[in-house]
This record gives sequence, structure tokens and C-alpha cells, in this order.
Amino acid sequence: MTALTAKPGSEDDTENLSCSMNQTLRRLLTYLTRYRFRLFLSVLFMIGFSVAMGILPALMGLATDVIAGKGSPDDLTRILLFFMIDATALWVCGHLAQHLLSLISQEALFTLRTELFTHIQSLSLSFFDRQPIGELMSRVSNDTDVIDQFFSNGIQQVLQSVTTIIVLTLVMLIINPVLTLLVYLAVFGMLAISSTIARISGPAFEHMQEGLGELNGFAEERLAGQKVTIAYNQQESTSKGFTKLSQQVAWTGGRAQFVALTSMPAATIMSNLQMILLLVVGGAMVMEGDIQLGELVAFLGLSSCISSPLSQIFSEYALIINASAGASRVFRILDEQPVVADLPDAVTMPAIKGDVIFDAVDFSYVPGRTVLKNNTFHALPGNIFGLCGPTGAGKSTIINILTRYYDIQSGSITIDGVRIDEVVQDSLRIQIAQVLQEPFLFSSTVLDNLRYARSDATDEECIAAAKQAGAYEFIMAQPHGFETYLNDGGSNLSQGQRQMLTIARAMVSEPHLLILDEATSNVDTRTEKLIQSGLLNLQQGKTSFIIAHRLSTIRHADCILVINQGEIVERGTHDDLMAAKGFYYSLYVSQFRGKLSAITGFV
Ligand SMILES: Nc1ncnc2c1ncn2[C@@H]1O[C@H](COP(=O)(O)OP(=O)(O)OP(=O)(O)O)[C@@H](O)[C@H]1O
Ligand SMILES: [Mg+2]
Repeated sequence: MTALTAKPGSEDDTENLSCSMNQTLRRLLTYLTRYRFRLFLSVLFMIGFSVAMGILPALMGLATDVIAGKGSPDDLTRILLFFMIDATALWVCGHLAQHLLSLISQEALFTLRTELFTHIQSLSLSFFDRQPIGELMSRVSNDTDVIDQFFSNGIQQVLQSVTTIIVLTLVMLIINPVLTLLVYLAVFGMLAISSTIARISGPAFEHMQEGLGELNGFAEERLAGQKVTIAYNQQESTSKGFTKLSQQVAWTGGRAQFVALTSMPAATIMSNLQMILLLVVGGAMVMEGDIQLGELVAFLGLSSCISSPLSQIFSEYALIINASAGASRVFRILDEQPVVADLPDAVTMPAIKGDVIFDAVDFSYVPGRTVLKNNTFHALPGNIFGLCGPTGAGKSTIINILTRYYDIQSGSITIDGVRIDEVVQDSLRIQIAQVLQEPFLFSSTVLDNLRYARSDATDEECIAAAKQAGAYEFIMAQPHGFETYLNDGGSNLSQGQRQMLTIARAMVSEPHLLILDEATSNVDTRTEKLIQSGLLNLQQGKTSFIIAHRLSTIRHADCILVINQGEIVERGTHDDLMAAKGFYYSLYVSQFRGKLSAITGFV
């Protein structure tokens, strides 16, 4: 069992957690150690800060001895002057150390965030099939947020505290090793408490982050489907679902914080204990004449200076555990390898002419659940291939494997004699234009959306494509024409208008191979005819695959493949298939009857 799937509390989980936490933190720190020089400078300033801090109690000790009669008033003035110089050095060093470290932290976070987002972009579609988008958003926002706090706050405090502890310990050892030992009895007590707290609260923090991811996933999905929620009057059950998940997060978070926060009072008790020990033993030593009163005063000051960084480390502990939990989830995504990867010797796909061969192709999304069985067909350059069949038959899947979103399990797919699994994926996809079943547009201007297909397309080319796709009139009817901003991916357009824009976008890309998956399903038949003429221009000399439920759309195809339950059950031209009076014929007749009854009102 991994630490990430572990339930809080068990022995195994705790072992795994501390091991994975160390590894995760070490990996997280590599993002900071890239800036070695500035990090080194910042540590130097921290040492300066700590030395200045250690000098203050020593000066107080000296002043005590002077007041106790071991010096003149001039000595007191000199001590005061040193005190002021030291306080200035303390301020300057502390400020510079913090400034340098926060610069490094921001740069490290920028690198991590960019790496994460870029890596997510490189992953195969199968990764997104199993990873809810809301959870991914949580990785990119929540988890990087806790890492941000760790970098910009936690690391700074911990580094400064550790430096101070080391420097002050050295100063104390020089002054009096016996009293130093006493101080460290309390320090070890605190360390024991902190490791126990980490063992208990660590898994709870892991669970809190996981719960937060789930909560985000839920919120993202429900808000995206708010229309459906309102339509089915499910607002109350949605709120209840959210509240339940939110309560779980609050509960696990509260539990984790409760345990982690016990460290602060524990630290206070231990530092008081340390003070009492020093007073009793040190006081006895002063009375015996073994040490001066000033030495004890300096020691009391130093030991309280050491308590505050120790408490600081304790209070940062919750943050560190939380950051480690967030980081381990971020790294899990960074370690995810694309399932569909280019071969080391992958070649660039030459300019596609359009000879597409599927040879005995079998495919399943999930092992054991075959979706396509023994698919074989041959499309010649310039052919228009129609694909039809019932819902869930596997039509979109054929397109998904032709564009290599997924790798097939057996058989082969070649374009112009080149196996598509032997070429660089990008070089293949850049030559294929797809209009997908769900028209997706980005929140940007119409023009930007059209240019998404080819960044160097000119305004004129985009406008020409819009005209060809029959989208020009409605675009010009928008308040700012081609510069109209599409809210939330085009929610200010009708579904059919969005589809026309995605067709125009495909036209802008100047493809060598064209795929239309229900591209005109959302427009009326009159508009479809209008688009068809534009599409015909686009299809000139290019192999095209057109999926359509509305069979009139593919009536003129050179070849129609009829798919049923993942198999090609029939193939041929519309006339061949009608003459055969098989599956296609019954599909066509039922659609024709449906249309007729819609017009006449008879079944
Ligand atoms: N990402 C996926 N993961 C697992 N199974 C999938 C995935 N996408 C599709 N399927 C399954 O594969 C089968 C074929 O789906 P496909 O999308 O190819 O159907 P289709 O013929 O395009 O249907 P429609 O006409 O409704 O678009 C279905 O049984 C579906 O459940
Ligand atoms: Mg489909």
C-alpha cells in the first residue's frame, strides 16, 4: 500500500509516510537548490543574523557584570554602542536573507507550476479519461498553493531557525558546556514530541489534500452541469453532496491541525522547563562561585533565543507536512508517462497524400473490453469515407486511433504506407483537421479561435474560412464581428453556430486529411447544405472521414462503412448498400420514415 492510499493511523502508513515525506521534500528542495549562489548568499546573511542575535545576550551578560561592580560607566557606554551596531547588523542581515530567499522561492514555484502544466499537456488522452478535470485543477491550484506557502514562508523560517540554533549552540558551548547540555536536554524532549506529532498528523494531512481534490472535482463537474441540475431540480441534493465532501475535508483537516498544533503548547512547556533547569543549576553554580552572574544572565538570554527558533520549527511543521502531501501529489502527475509515446527512432510524417489502410485492427480502451474488432478497410487518396452505425458502435473510436490518441492492441494502421505508430505524433496530427462531436471553443475572440488551428493564418484567411463554413453572416451579426469575445467557450452562441465555427477552424488549418465527427449534426438541413458546399471545396483531393447519424450527410461518399458493435458489418456506396437491403438499408429506411412521419404526422 502506498502512503497516498493509506488510511490514517496504521503502523505501515506511518513508516511509508515518513520515508515518502523525506523523499518528497528532498525532491521539492531541488527546485530551490538550482539557485545555489543566491541560496548560499542568503545562508551567509542568516549566519550573520544569528551571530548578531547571539551577541545581544552576551552584551547583556557583560552589562550585568559591569553593573555588579566589575567595570566603569565608560564600559557601559561602550557596551551600548556595540549593542546599537549589533542591532543594525541584525536588521540588515535578516532583511537581505529574507529578500533573497523570497526571490528564489518565487522562481522555484514558477518553475514547478510551469513544469506541471506543460507536463499535463504532454500526457495522452487515456490519462484524462481516468483523471477528473476538477482534481487536476486542484493539483495546479491548491497543491501548488501549499507549496508556495512552504517555499515563501516555511523554508525561510526553518532555514533561519536552524542557522540560529547552530550559531547560538556554538556560542553557548564556548561560554559554558555544562549549561549547554542542560539546554539540550529540553531540546531533545522537544524533538521527541515533534516526531511523534508528525507520525500521527502526517497521514491525516494526506487525506485532507485528497479530500480537497475530490471536493474540487465535484464542484467543477456540478457547476459545469448547472443547467442539468436546475432542469432536474437537483440543487438541494447537489448542495448536500458538496456539504458532505466539505465536511470530510473539514474533519480530516481539523484532526490533522489538532494534532499538529499540540506542538506549540508542548514547545512552550519545554522552554519553560529549560528556563527553570538553568535557573536552578546555574543559580547554584553562581552561588558556589563557579561562574559569574553575567555568564548566567547571558545564558538565560541565549537559551530563550534558542527557544524561539525551535518553536518556529514546530509551528512550521504543519505547513511542511501539508506541503509534502501537496508535493507528492504534484510529483505523481509529473512522473506520469504518456501512454502513447513517440518511438526513439520515430520519423516525421511526410506530407500526407491520403492512402489510409486499417489492417485487422483490434482496440480496447480498457483491457478486456474490446471496442473495435478486426477492422479492415482501405481509403484511397481523395476518397470520402462515410462512417455510420448505432450509438456506441465505435465510429469515434476509429477516429481516435487514426489520429493516434490511443495505441491499438493488434493489427496496423498505415497512411501512405507509413505505420502511424512509427512517426512523431505531432507531425501526424498537424496534417489532420478534426471537427469533433462536441464543438469546443476557447474563451477568446472569434478570430483567435479560428487561428487556433494555425497560428500564422492571416485575418483574411480566417475570414475566408468563416465564409466557406457559412459562419460569416452570424459572426458579423455579433457586436464586434470577428473581434467578439466568446464568453466561457462560446456560451453566447447557439450550438449550431459553435459547430460552424469549429468547421471554419478546421478549414483554417489547411489539412491533408479531414475528419468530421457529427460535424453538422447541430445545424438544420438547410444550413448543412450551405456548409456542405464549403466542405466540398475543403475536401478536394483530400481523404475525408465523415461520421454522421443523419445518413443524407454521407450519401455521396465514395464508400460508406457501416459499423455495429465494433465491427464493419457492411461497406459500399449508398446505392450498393441500399440495393443489398441489409443493415444500412434498414437504418436509412427508418430515418426516412421518421422524417416522413415528422412531416405528415403519420407513423
Ligand atoms: N474514453 C473511453 N474509455 C472507455 N470506453 C470508451 C471511451 N470512449 C468510448 N468508449 C466506449 O467505446 C464504445 C464506442 O464508443 P464510440 O465513442 O466510438 O461510439 P460512437 O459510435 O462514436 O457513438 P456515438 O454515435 O454515440 O458517438 C462505447 O461502448 C463506449 O462506451
Ligand atoms: Mg461518436
